[in-house]
Amino acid sequence: MKKTSDLKLIVFFTALTFLLTVVVVLSWERFLLPPFFSWVESHYPGPANAEARVKVQQRVEHFFISIAVDMVVVTLLLRVVRRQHRRVEESEERYRALFEHAKNGIGVARASDFRLVEANGKFCDILGCQVEALVGRDVRELLRAEGDGPDPRRGGLAWLLGSAEAGEGEFVVAAVSGAPVHISVSFSTLSTAAEKLIMLIVRDLTQQRQLEADKEEMQRQLYQSSKLASIGELSAGVAHEINNPLNGLINFAQLLKDEPVERSDFERQMIDGIIDEGGRIARIVRGLLTFARPDGDGHEARRAHVGETVQTSVALFGRQLEKDGVRVEVELDPDLPPVRAEASRLRQVVVNMISNAHLALKARGGGGEKVFRISARRFERDGARCVGLEFYDNGVGIPAGLLDRVFDPFFTTRRDAGGTGLGLSISFGIVRDYGGTIRAESREGEFTRFTVELPAADSWEAEYG
Ligand SMILES: Nc1ncnc2c1ncn2[C@@H]1O[C@H](COP(=O)(O)OP(=O)(O)OP(=O)(O)O)[C@@H](O)[C@H]1O
Ligand SMILES: [Mg+2]
Repeated sequence: MKKTSDLKLIVFFTALTFLLTVVVVLSWERFLLPPFFSWVESHYPGPANAEARVKVQQRVEHFFISIAVDMVVVTLLLRVVRRQHRRVEESEERYRALFEHAKNGIGVARASDFRLVEANGKFCDILGCQVEALVGRDVRELLRAEGDGPDPRRGGLAWLLGSAEAGEGEFVVAAVSGAPVHISVSFSTLSTAAEKLIMLIVRDLTQQRQLEADKEEMQRQLYQSSKLASIGELSAGVAHEINNPLNGLINFAQLLKDEPVERSDFERQMIDGIIDEGGRIARIVRGLLTFARPDGDGHEARRAHVGETVQTSVALFGRQLEKDGVRVEVELDPDLPPVRAEASRLRQVVVNMISNAHLALKARGGGGEKVFRISARRFERDGARCVGLEFYDNGVGIPAGLLDRVFDPFFTTRRDAGGTGLGLSISFGIVRDYGGTIRAESREGEFTRFTVELPAADSWEAEYG
C-alpha cells in the first residue's frame, strides 16, 4: 500500500518536473531570451567576446531553468509532506486519546526486558501513582502478586508472560500505598519495525469482588432469615401449647420440693432434676417465641445506645470472665450514634456473645493470655451512618466446617454444658429485625470474631420513615 503510493508520488513529480521544464523553457525562449541576449551582446560586444557571450548565455539559461523548476517542485513537495505530517499527527492524537481515556489500564512493555515504556492514566490510577514513577520499571515487579516471592522473575505474572504469546490471569497486587488491588491482566505480544512489545490490559476487579462478596453475604443472611422465619411460624403455635403444661410441671415440682416432709437424697435429686430440666425447656420455648415475633415488631423499637448496652452487659457478666483469668477489653467510640433497637434485646445479643466467648476461653487450655475484646465504632456505608460492634476472643475457635452452622437454631457443641444452640440464632433474628447484619469469622485454636453492624437510628428513619 505504502509502496504503491510512493510510486505514484514519484511518477507524479517526474511528470510534473518534465512539464514544468517544458513550460519554463518555452517561457524563457519566448519572453526572456531576446531581451537577455541583447543585454549580453551590449555588454560583450564584438567578435573578440563571442566565446564569453555564449558561456554567459548558456550558464544563465541553465541556472534560470533549474531554479524555476526546483522552486515550484520543492514548494509542492513541501506541501505534500506537511499534509502527510498533519495526518500522522491527527491520527496520533486520536490514538493517544483512545489510549488515555480507555476504561481499562493499558501498559506497554518491551518484550526483551519487560520494562514499561508507556502506561495510560487508568493503569497509573490502579497502581496509585504517577506515570513517571512507572515507566522504566519491570512490569513483573510492578504487578507482583501477593504471595509471590521477592524475585519478580518467578512470580505469577512472569510465569503467565513466559507461557504464551497472549493470555489472561487474575492477581491480587499491592498498589503503591500498599493497599491490595484485585486485578485481571490480559496481554498480547506485538512486533513493531524496531522491537517486540507486550501490551498489557489491566482491569481493577476490587469493586466487582466487593460487590460479589456483599451479594453472597446478603444471600447468606436472607437464607438464615428464611430458616428462622419457618421455625418461627412453626414454633409460635408449639411454644404456646407447651408453655402452660410446662409451667404447671415446674410449679408442681416446686410444690413437692417445698412440702415439709422428709425425703431421701434420691427423691430430692429427682425433684431438682425436674425443676432444672423444666427451666431448660422454658428457656428454649422463650427462645423459640423470639423467632415468632412478627416482622413489624422492629418498628416499635426505641433508640438504644450501644455504648451503654455494652457497658451494662460487661458490668454484669464480664466479671465472671475476669474471675477466670480473662483480660476483658472494651473499646468504645465516644461518638456512637444511637441505633434503632430495644435496649433489652440488644443486651441479649451482647450477653450471648460474652457467654459464648467465656465458654470458648474456658475450653482453651492454659498457656498464653486469654483475651476478650468488645469494640464499637461508627462508620458510614453508602452515605448512611452505622454502628459496628466487634466481639473478639482468642478461645478455642470454631472449626471451618462448622462456621456456617453456628447461626442455625439448635446448633450447639455445648449440649452437655446446657447449651440450647439458640443464642446465636436469636441474636441473628434480633439484629436482622433492626436492619443489621451479623457475621462470624474464626480460626480453630486461634480466635473467633463476631461482627454486628446496625444502621444508626437516623439512617433507619431516613430509609424506612
Ligand atoms: N466465641 C465462640 N468461640 C467458639 N465457638 C463459638 C463461639 N460462639 C459460638 N460458638 C459455637 O457456636 C455454637 C452456637 O452458639 P449459640 O450461642 O447459638 O449456642 P450455645 O452457646 O451453644 O447455646 P446457648 O447460647 O443456648 O447457651 C456454640 O455451641 C459453639 O460451638
Ligand atoms: Mg450461646
